[in-house]
Amino acid sequence: MLKIVFDWCKRHIVLFTIASVIFVVMFGFINIQILHMTSEPEFCHLCHPAQGFGPLAEVDSWEHSAHGDAGVSCLDCHGRPGVLGYAKAKLGGLKDTYMQLTISKEEKLEILSNPHEDLVPSWHCLYCHTDEGNRIVRETTRGPMQLVNMRMLDDVVNPAFRERKGLADIMEDDFVGGTHFNHSMHVENFDLTCRDCHFGVVHNPATATDRMNFCLACHADAVDDAPQISDCNVCHEAQLAMNEGTGVEGVEDTPGMMYGDAADMTCTDCHTGVTKGVYRPSAASCTNCHEDEAYRDIFNDWEASTKASIEELKTLRVEIEAALLDADAAKRDTAEVWKTYAQGLRNLKFVRNDGTNGVHNNEYAIAILESVRADFKKAMVQLDSVW
Ligand code: HEC
Ligand code: HEC
Ligand code: HEC
Ligand code: HEC
Ligand code: HEC
Ligand code: HEC
Ligand code: HEC
Ligand code: HEC
Repeated sequence: MLKIVFDWCKRHIVLFTIASVIFVVMFGFINIQILHMTSEPEFCHLCHPAQGFGPLAEVDSWEHSAHGDAGVSCLDCHGRPGVLGYAKAKLGGLKDTYMQLTISKEEKLEILSNPHEDLVPSWHCLYCHTDEGNRIVRETTRGPMQLVNMRMLDDVVNPAFRERKGLADIMEDDFVGGTHFNHSMHVENFDLTCRDCHFGVVHNPATATDRMNFCLACHADAVDDAPQISDCNVCHEAQLAMNEGTGVEGVEDTPGMMYGDAADMTCTDCHTGVTKGVYRPSAASCTNCHEDEAYRDIFNDWEASTKASIEELKTLRVEIEAALLDADAAKRDTAEVWKTYAQGLRNLKFVRNDGTNGVHNNEYAIAILESVRADFKKAMVQLDSVW
């Protein structure tokens, strides 16, 4: 039987070779398609389907996170860099599938509620968020970084990656995310991991209170000249800048009407709960000073309109970045466009880092967002002209 097959192959060697090549290419193609498909958040959603945040809602919480906005996907964090790291993550996926079939709902919830301490190790975060950490990983990763383009992670080369994403080098800069904070001093002196402070960075946004309390564990009793709880401005530079209405190039300074000498007010006039550990005021706090209940509506208006504008700009941002990457792939000269885009992105983050959707200083926040819109429009016009 085998002999007949071999003889046939020998006689039709050309046909046989062509058929084999087609088979190998098709099979490889299908495999890569399967790898792609099973790496997409939509696939993870099959077994991590809940809404909101917390265990089981990992896909939904990611969709609303800054990493999600920036196109950093599941396997960019849940798989280590390089081809071997990718392969290992895919094997882990097989284990997930096996577990899904064999363990109870309660057991699954138990595992998801207690994520492994090293689920995403600090060095992995540093690979994207510093230049030195990136270099070390690229130099020590065994095997090739990538065979075909499977995800963002394997392409990350700093400083280029972080600059285009408008990010600081967290070990070099001590003004990060709008806060005055020296990472290298704290991480190295106190042997902290990223997770100690950034727990829930993607999957649970409600951890800001815990983070501030974590700072106060040390900063509540006088350590040298380190800031104390009453020194809001030392840590909260983004919020200070927004209240003072300064710091964005090309947008006129516009002091907030409820901050500073003119209004004779400081942070704690609104943030009255800080001594009780309640840092975030609500709409109800407006009526502490303004008797008219209508001021709650003003709060809601400020918040809703600014939020809508931010959401719209975020969508625009994703479109422009995708178009820029397309243009880069086609070898167009995009250097100037990236610059315009990065300036818009920086200013968008200025508003986002304040975190109040315009409540601190609505006029200034709106003016900044208008400038972002103008920068993004300009980037699109520039992009049209390089094609
Ligand atoms: C077939 C169902 C299924 C799919 C699809 C699935 N998971 Fe899971 N996942 C599970 C189950 C069950 C667990 C808990 C048991 C375990 O750790 O394997 C889990 C656990 C996890 C954990 C925590 C592991 C730990 O040790 O704490 C991560 C991270 C994770 N999944 C990520 C993903 C990502 C990323 C995807 C998409 C690429 C995905 N999962 C797709 C079923 C699934
Ligand atoms: C693939 C590269 C990559 C990896 C890996 C990565 N990040 Fe990020 N991170 C980014 C990008 C890009 C942004 C910018 C998001 C935006 O546009 O605002 C970001 C933003 C952030 C922010 C600011 C926004 C926020 O959500 O508060 C923090 C904090 C952060 N990352 C921490 C971490 C930590 C901790 C880890 C490890 C668990 C990590 N990152 C892993 C790329 C990465
Ligand atoms: C002692 C607490 C602490 C530790 C530990 C820590 N961070 Fe941060 N990180 C902060 C604070 C505070 C900010 C300021 C913004 C904020 O509060 O979200 C910040 C901001 C960031 C940002 C935002 C930068 C930007 O430009 O938007 C990134 C990225 C980040 N950290 C990554 C990391 C990584 C990676 C590690 C682990 C090596 C780490 N952090 C460890 C407290 C910490
Ligand atoms: C920027 C890095 C990053 C990205 C992107 C990311 N995760 Fe996570 N994920 C983490 C970290 C860090 C933890 C550990 C727990 C924590 O700090 O919240 C975690 C925890 C988990 C867990 C364990 C259970 C839990 O809720 O803590 C699952 C499951 C999970 N992630 C799935 C996903 C899926 C699915 C995606 C894509 C839709 C995704 N992650 C995207 C960093 C990331
Ligand atoms: C383990 C204790 C500890 C924790 C936790 C801690 N700090 Fe510190 N921090 C210190 C000490 C000690 C100093 C003083 C160092 C010096 O003066 O040389 C300091 C100094 C500072 C300074 C002033 C020095 C500088 O960097 O310019 C700032 C700002 C600061 N910390 C912010 C924070 C924030 C924000 C957090 C929480 C995210 C935090 N710290 C958490 C111990 C801690
Ligand atoms: C030692 C530095 C430090 C000081 C001093 C400080 N904070 Fe914070 N605060 C933080 C950090 C870090 C966070 C977490 C930010 C984040 O996760 O984005 C935070 C979070 C907050 C939040 C958000 C809490 C939530 O649950 O959403 C508010 C509001 C706040 N701080 C107000 C204040 C006020 C008002 C003061 C002065 C009375 C003050 N902080 C002093 C570091 C500090
Ligand atoms: C601690 C007291 C205090 C709190 C709390 C407060 N305000 Fe004010 N607000 C003032 C003062 C004082 C002025 C007048 C400043 C001036 O005229 O120069 C003012 C002015 C205003 C104005 C413009 C002039 C006017 O009277 O209409 C608006 C709008 C306003 N506040 C809305 C709010 C909203 C919304 C909140 C809740 C986030 C709020 N305020 C919380 C003290 C406060
Ligand atoms: C007019 C009242 C008012 C004043 C003055 C004020 N805040 Fe706020 N702040 C608020 C309100 C209200 C919120 C909650 C907004 C929301 O939930 O959308 C808030 C939120 C915050 C947050 C949380 C932001 C986040 O990322 O979630 C921080 C931090 C903060 N304020 C710090 C400050 C600092 C520092 C000052 C002084 C420089 C200050 N605030 C002055 C009313 C005020």
